[in-house]
Amino acid sequence: MNRRKFIQNTALTGAGIATGVAAMSCKEVPEEKDIAVSTTKSISKSSYISISTWDTSSANNASGELLAQGKPALDAIIAGVAVEEANEENTTVGIGATPDREGNVTLDACVMSPDGDYGAVLAVENIVHVAALARKVMEETPHVIMASKGAEEFAYTQGFKKQKLLTPASEKAWKEWLKTSNYQPAINVENHDTIGMLAMDSSGDIAGVCTTSGLGYKMKGRVGDSPIIGSGLFIDNEVGAAVATGMGEEVLKTVGSFLVVELMRNGMSPQKACEEAIHRIVKKGDRYKDFQVAYIAMNKTGETGSYAIHKGFNMMKYQNENAEVIISDYYNK
Ligand code: GLY
Repeated sequence: MNRRKFIQNTALTGAGIATGVAAMSCKEVPEEKDIAVSTTKSISKSSYISISTWDTSSANNASGELLAQGKPALDAIIAGVAVEEANEENTTVGIGATPDREGNVTLDACVMSPDGDYGAVLAVENIVHVAALARKVMEETPHVIMASKGAEEFAYTQGFKKQKLLTPASEKAWKEWLKTSNYQPAINVENHDTIGMLAMDSSGDIAGVCTTSGLGYKMKGRVGDSPIIGSGLFIDNEVGAAVATGMGEEVLKTVGSFLVVELMRNGMSPQKACEEAIHRIVKKGDRYKDFQVAYIAMNKTGETGSYAIHKGFNMMKYQNENAEVIISDYYNK
């Protein structure tokens, strides 16, 4: 399935009906009637839940299935996003991702654990599974962020394989782009499909991860929100978790994921908190018309929410062996 399309649960109504993944079908643009404003199902202590950004059902189901086996949230999310990092057809993460203007594929990722620990890698080349590498930074070093060559060299000491990330398809697309070098990222296409995933395991512990190649045809050295704690991702195991996707510059300037979690701490539902974080961006002026940002969030009682600036964003949800797609509500109607 092309990532520019959006999968839709054909039976989705109201707050979303859970069905098997096999029942999902491709559709270019979601219908208004299919928009789920929020989900409010509370979960028991022995329940579990995994949510992820965009059309990432295989990744989210992989996470959900591990949670169903009683695995910790941190293990589930790292294994989950690895599915998309290895998917050459996904042009926004891992192998096959869109390069920078000079043809270098550089990846960013971060992870947060239930105990509030954090690890991140920035601008890493030649390593596919950068989310797992971010976890290694968190668990095996005295640091929290490693960048570029240093992160890559650390990866080899941890047994990661060197792999060329620019595939024949992504190289061909880059060479085509070079003919005009026109840099105007299209909403929901180049700007863009970061995978963020949040999970709560059957012990009630929450972990999260974010992995991306950043903006397609970005300037060499550009880093977005995804590997930056509080912007691309934030977990507070007492409260809940949030993760962002879209134009990273705007998420960074509003410290968006931390904001969502703090709003939940102050009593907002995940849905309302995502909406407020988007409002903080759009109220700055009309520029939001040219870019997409979206958040997904969950709290400790298993409520989830999602909200975007523009139409076309969706969230995957896996809970108690049911997979569903939540087509997100949005600001710019
Ligand atoms: N949200 C991903 C990025 O802007 O790099």
